[in-house]
Amino acid sequence: MEHISVIGAGTMGNGIAHHFAMHDYPVVLVDVDSERLEKALLAISGNLDRQAAKGLLDPSRVPEVLSRIRISTDLPAAVSGADLIIEAASENLSVKLSLFQRMDALAPAACILASNTSSLSITKLASETSRPSQVIGMHFMNPVPVMKLVEVIRGFETSAGVTDAICELAKKTGKVPCVVNDYPGFIANRVLMPMINEAIYALHEGVAGVESIDLIMKLGMAHPMGPLQLADYIGLDTCLAILKVLEEGFGSSKFSPCPLLLNMVNAGELGVKTGHGFYSYGEKTKQLKVSDRFLA
Ligand SMILES: NC(=O)c1ccc[n+]([C@@H]2O[C@H](COP(=O)([O-])OP(=O)(O)OC[C@H]3O[C@@H](n4cnc5c(N)ncnc54)[C@H](O)[C@@H]3O)[C@@H](O)[C@H]2O)c1
Repeated sequence: MEHISVIGAGTMGNGIAHHFAMHDYPVVLVDVDSERLEKALLAISGNLDRQAAKGLLDPSRVPEVLSRIRISTDLPAAVSGADLIIEAASENLSVKLSLFQRMDALAPAACILASNTSSLSITKLASETSRPSQVIGMHFMNPVPVMKLVEVIRGFETSAGVTDAICELAKKTGKVPCVVNDYPGFIANRVLMPMINEAIYALHEGVAGVESIDLIMKLGMAHPMGPLQLADYIGLDTCLAILKVLEEGFGSSKFSPCPLLLNMVNAGELGVKTGHGFYSYGEKTKQLKVSDRFLA
């Protein structure tokens, strides 16, 4: 696999492009929104500088890594020479179904079509294409350049050869792949999202405040980040979308999203990406300040 195209230049798309460019792959990063593409390049450049400052990357490599990433709003041109396309567009089934139809029509016959979806059915996405054996889930964790795990999701028709190729690529670029079968939320979000939702319910019911809930899970359960802060990083709209997939997929109210989460998403308080969620984010996301909404 030599040429990688990444579709969607949001939180995950820019991390995935950064990761592969750091490992010497030319990457085309595609989005419908040219502003998102410009912002993604700025974010990648800032993150590379941070890695260099921490001694994780030779500073002289920063321009070279950046030069391997090309941005584009032209999907047909961006995928015509791809060996692997990683779709990381918004967590919305109709958006992804139409992208998989287009990717299938435009990409070379041998190209593997992967999705970074957090919860949607890989088998369903594959069914929109003429190459279901070459469709697979490649679920990176946020932030991509830091987190080791890639959850590899085998659709009902994904071939063993394609699964092996994706695992090999993950290993070659320093990630640890873990193969799972295709059921709603796979493993990562099937386990994580009910915990986040329960933390939001506890806040909603006034059991404890934002900081206390996060502190209890950090100090008590040795989680590096509390569930509310983690939700802000994932994006509250993404959390809501995943919970809805779990609720519908399993037909169980145990995944019903908390009304507070719905209100925050409707109000556009989506976490780090909009500057407000359970916390408020200025320039430095490390200095946490609880959102005014949750201060007594
Ligand atoms: N945020 C996380 O922590 C996280 C972790 C793992 C997986 N994911 C998954 O990764 C995917 C992307 O999530 P995100 O957090 O980066 O979302 P995001 O909202 O930050 O970015 C999504 C991007 O997709 C673009 N987009 C939408 N429709 C498009 C189209 N038709 N063609 C090209 N671009 C399009 C949007 O303009 C936007 O820039 C989702 O499937 C999500 O579930 C997210």
